[in-house]
Amino acid sequence: MLDLLIHHASLPDGRKEMSLAVQDGKIVEVSPGLQAPAQQTVDAQGYLLSPPFVDPHFHMDATLSYGLPRVNQSGTLLEGIALWGELKPLLTQDELVEHAMAYCDWAVAKGLLAIRTHVDVCDARLLAVDALLDVKRQVAPYINLQLVAFPQDGVLRAPGALDNLKRALDKGVDVVGGIPHFERTMVDGAASVKLLCELAAERGLRVDMHCDESDDPLSRHVETLAYETQRLGLHGRVTGSHLTSMHSMDNYYVSKLIALMTEAQLHAVANPLINITLQGRHDTYPKRRGMTRVPELLAAGINVAFGHDCVMDPWYSLGSGDMLEVAHMGLHVAQMTSQSAMRACFDAVTVNAARVMGLAGYGLEVGCHADFVLLQARDPVEALRLRATRLKVFKRGQLLAESAPAVAQLHLPQRPTQTAWMGA
Ligand code: FE2
Repeated sequence: MLDLLIHHASLPDGRKEMSLAVQDGKIVEVSPGLQAPAQQTVDAQGYLLSPPFVDPHFHMDATLSYGLPRVNQSGTLLEGIALWGELKPLLTQDELVEHAMAYCDWAVAKGLLAIRTHVDVCDARLLAVDALLDVKRQVAPYINLQLVAFPQDGVLRAPGALDNLKRALDKGVDVVGGIPHFERTMVDGAASVKLLCELAAERGLRVDMHCDESDDPLSRHVETLAYETQRLGLHGRVTGSHLTSMHSMDNYYVSKLIALMTEAQLHAVANPLINITLQGRHDTYPKRRGMTRVPELLAAGINVAFGHDCVMDPWYSLGSGDMLEVAHMGLHVAQMTSQSAMRACFDAVTVNAARVMGLAGYGLEVGCHADFVLLQARDPVEALRLRATRLKVFKRGQLLAESAPAVAQLHLPQRPTQTAWMGA
């Protein structure tokens, strides 16, 4: 007997009326109209069954700290970093765990079951590292949490940061991070990329660097990241995050740069909610959008994903762990409005993000983990339009979360009471 059988599901690739069978936490069959005895049967009623959402770029050590000890007045990245510097010494390990665990609850409710989070290693006490390693263990049954050792104040610029970063990796942090544009000079930035990529190569780890997160058209750290990746043979294991300078760079130079990124098989992560608010703050009018060149990177065959980056922290006052909100903003900022481009935005918070994290067994094929979310939408585009309700969230075939359908009761004059749902 099957553990779980889902009927009448629409799938992200457009197939309708599909059944999906689960046994021992794995998908064992995907076919139309499957009949078989099962412990639990779910009628999807034609709604979209998707692999879970994946956030490839987050800062869980800072999340849910909005207003502590004050709010960011200028709204800039630099004031955010300064504010985080004020907050860090005040946060206890218990508070860090409490905030992160609360965020993970939100994530599960939103069908977000894998998160790559950067964790600041510049505090020699490594409180945030210990806190997030603890959280990683606690949430392991329901969220795949991957940690990046992130030297927020610069691995060369901040005293002791390299040593702290290595100690974080020794403790079990998964990925090597960096922030070359925040080092003192372009030369130091390039040196930081080189040494961090070499460290990752030595230890057999992946790299995910905040790279050129500025409006400086002459920033060149993505080029160095691509160069070091191919030099060290790290193809497919390195991610450039943010990459916002690419928005402002000269078009001719970008045409060379994208070819280098493709050669190195870099992954690119844009963070639309955050970069549409942080970038262009020094502009008068016109104000640059600041998000990296998503359609052009996709057209070059580069794996592009969208991250949430921040929720209620020194950089961003909003957010709720909803990756559809992230994709919705990405779609608008990048003007990705064709049917195929909108579907690509859905992929950017599901399959492409899973590729960034290197997740095994992700997807809706036979043999994949039985992890999925049932959305109150008929297809990915409708899911984006409605930021669809997550009706049910499953991990390894077990129900983790349920939400009531979003339906309004209308009491209109001279009309019978009726229900309204904005889906097609
Ligand atoms: Fe970030």
